[in-house]
Amino acid sequence: MSCCAHCEDAGDLFDREKARTELRKYRRSGPPNESKRLLIDTLKTLYLQGLTLMDVGGDVGMIPLELLEAGVSKSTLVEASPAYLEVAEQEARRRGLEARTTHTYGDFVKRAPNLPEADIVTLDRVFCCYPRLEELVEASTGKARRWYGVTYPKERWYNQVIGGLAGVYCWVRDMDFRMYIHTGVEETIRANGFTPFYQVNTILWRVELYERNSAA
Ligand SMILES: C[S@@+](CC[C@H](N)C(=O)[O-])C[C@H]1O[C@@H](n2cnc3c(N)ncnc32)[C@H](O)[C@@H]1O
Repeated sequence: MSCCAHCEDAGDLFDREKARTELRKYRRSGPPNESKRLLIDTLKTLYLQGLTLMDVGGDVGMIPLELLEAGVSKSTLVEASPAYLEVAEQEARRRGLEARTTHTYGDFVKRAPNLPEADIVTLDRVFCCYPRLEELVEASTGKARRWYGVTYPKERWYNQVIGGLAGVYCWVRDMDFRMYIHTGVEETIRANGFTPFYQVNTILWRVELYERNSAA
């Protein structure tokens, strides 16, 4: 199936070994990073019964699994890494959730026109993998009927350094993949019709939940 060069490299970077390691950590002690836990915990404070979820770039599917077990009725996971997607599918099956999950491979921006809307759309640490922020935000907010949850690197010098080092690593391995520290994320999301509902910082990450503006 076709994917952009950037996303094909996502398959090399986020490979089977990493997917299995992520899953092992997750099974042992739950979602492994603070920003992900904050986003999940905030979403769990909403009334989730019967809502649908779309998680973009959701690796082995931790956000869908957590929210399906908390009341979400159905989830769609869209992933550019075939290995992550395969492991996510196996884990959903192991937990008896396969009938409520859909797993879709590819670049979300390209696939978006053929994907359904969802009540909640999440992108956990995905903006930093994608070169064109406006395009990704427009495509993903366009699928969110009400809630839009994101985590992304704060605009700080130390994240620019980390991004630069990640760029060198990918360049040495001859990969198109880069880490992007985008500016103006909140403004871009607001411009697409959403208002912040919850915002918090960890040392490296910004965690935000937005709600769609109601039609006047
Ligand atoms: C840095 S990882 C974060 C994974 C996970 N959300 C987490 O926080 O642990 C970024 C993930 O987004 C996926 N990804 C990046 N760009 C994507 C795109 N355009 N469409 C779908 N998935 C994408 C990558 O394959 C990778 O699994």
